[in-house]
Amino acid sequence: MSPTAVNGSSTSREHEVTGRTPVTPHGTAPGPGHPVDLQAARAALRLALPEPGSKFSQDDEWCVVAEPDGSWAEYRFHDYDRIFGVRGLYEKIFYDVLGCDSPRFMVGLLNDALASADVPAGSLRVLDLGAGNGIMAEELAAVGVEHSVGVDILPEARDAAERDRPGLYDGYHVADLTALPASEREALASHGLNTLTVVAALGFGDIPPAAFRTAYDLIAPDGWVVMTIKDAFLEETDTSGFGGMIGESIRSGALEVVRRERFQHRLATDSSPLLYEGIVARKRGPLAG
Ligand SMILES: C[S@@+](CC[C@H](N)C(=O)[O-])C[C@H]1O[C@@H](n2cnc3c(N)ncnc32)[C@H](O)[C@@H]1O
Repeated sequence: MSPTAVNGSSTSREHEVTGRTPVTPHGTAPGPGHPVDLQAARAALRLALPEPGSKFSQDDEWCVVAEPDGSWAEYRFHDYDRIFGVRGLYEKIFYDVLGCDSPRFMVGLLNDALASADVPAGSLRVLDLGAGNGIMAEELAAVGVEHSVGVDILPEARDAAERDRPGLYDGYHVADLTALPASEREALASHGLNTLTVVAALGFGDIPPAAFRTAYDLIAPDGWVVMTIKDAFLEETDTSGFGGMIGESIRSGALEVVRRERFQHRLATDSSPLLYEGIVARKRGPLAG
């Protein structure tokens, strides 16, 4: 292994992050519920990527991170439980180093669609599936959404959201939506949800089609669906289960797409762009399949 250090020092892949004004993931000053401590923790972290010529599949990427004792530990990007356990590490890897901007981009797309439909953001009641450490809640609040509920399969994600962005979600459920207990379903239904957001979380070993369907079914008719998804997952030839469900629902009109843009989700560790489809749609009927 010959990783490239990414610590604000003098390598060709330098990412200057130390000693500057604290910023949120999208570059503005921290607001309420966004402690400066997170920014300090994020700035102090040092990490290194695999050598630039190496190529990994999206569910197999990794980096190494300097531990407090000076040793280096490997983190696979899908080891979210470990990543969320280190304050600022998620933001450092995906935002500072790999340039992720998906939550801000997708909430912008939603906000644009809301304005065209003359719907106030304050009327949304959002289920944020694959909520992670709450970056979507922060972006949603920034455009005027007043009620959002996080769902994630990992208790570490909930703990990180409460640690780093306290008070932004009106509830955070640690749940497996492929086997949702009736009591959890009722608790989620009691929020009167009319919007589903799923950003950077569909497929690749993360949220499976069955979990998406459960979340979708919790959303009121004509509600909003905001998602990022790999274009191949929408094709008729797709075998992941998303094509027959989401792709087919788009084709039938059960999901009415009102905004769709191909955008750069982030860089891969070899600096190649990872492109996703950003979709804002209305729920006009049950999902196909
Ligand atoms: C890349 S993170 C994205 C977090 C957040 N949406 C954002 O954009 O900041 C993916 C999240 O999906 C969650 N996840 C993975 N599989 C899941 C599942 N089956 N059900 C719910 N959440 C899941 C992970 O725990 C992780 O928090």
